[in-house]
Amino acid sequence: MSNFLTLNDLTIIEIKELLQDANQFSKGAQWFPAEKRYAVNLFFEPSTRTKSSFEIAERKLGIEVIPFEIDKSSLTKGESLYDTVKTFEAVGVDVAVIRHDQDGFYQELVDNLEIPLINGGDGCGHHPSQSLLDLFTIEQEFGSFENLNVAIVGDIMHSRVARSNAEVLKRLGANVMFSGPKEWFRTSYLQAGEYLEIDEVVEHADVCMFLRIQHERHHETAALSKEEYHQRYGLTEEREKRMKKDSIIMHPAPVNRNVEIADKLVECKRSRIFQQIKNGVFVRMAILKRVLSH
Ligand code: CP
Repeated sequence: MSNFLTLNDLTIIEIKELLQDANQFSKGAQWFPAEKRYAVNLFFEPSTRTKSSFEIAERKLGIEVIPFEIDKSSLTKGESLYDTVKTFEAVGVDVAVIRHDQDGFYQELVDNLEIPLINGGDGCGHHPSQSLLDLFTIEQEFGSFENLNVAIVGDIMHSRVARSNAEVLKRLGANVMFSGPKEWFRTSYLQAGEYLEIDEVVEHADVCMFLRIQHERHHETAALSKEEYHQRYGLTEEREKRMKKDSIIMHPAPVNRNVEIADKLVECKRSRIFQQIKNGVFVRMAILKRVLSH
């Protein structure tokens, strides 16, 4: 049985196989499970992109999607996450996609389940399908990761994509740079890449990946106003003019417009933000194919 929980669990060969499958799906390739399959998407935190693109991916692969609403389920009677997933397994569901606010929520589930789990995001932990779609978008643009300068800018400490993206990009041969508020940065992140000021980053990076300020994970109120954050750490229109000719802008979204990125730049020529969202469907088809093929 094959779960999909973090990219750290996968070898570079396995990651490249997933990217190849995503590429095939993006070009119209088809794959269907050998027999009827059922999926359930359990989202305990809000989501627009991840939930909808998993649903589209499941439907494109001919997988039946079982509706699930937390407030109409027996979770409201105190049933645990484990018993909920075990129940879906018992009624015949073949794969569960779960987003949960608890870091590593899957650790207490995986040993006693027979169906594969896909991590749709765990607290401040990991968001492996987002990381994979980020990799796919970068590969689509540049063809390779070797010696590419990739900057990860913003709320690194609370982001569930920043550190796992940095780790896997380094494994793939990219040079990773971090930027953003120093209070949201830890020296342990230096293992994956160096810290640079934003004005230096925009001039050297081939990929400028901005992160959303995760207000819901901040226990203290952010010290800066939105305008101050934008001027100090964001992609202003002035900074964009100093970016390299063929460099691109990425963001996992949702974007706080005029905070991480100037409103006008969210859909500019360099931006791949909506391409990332589009690629999310192909990558999630590849992930579902992998876990259902084992
Ligand atoms: N990027 C991302 O995970 O978006 P959602 O929260 O809308 O799924």
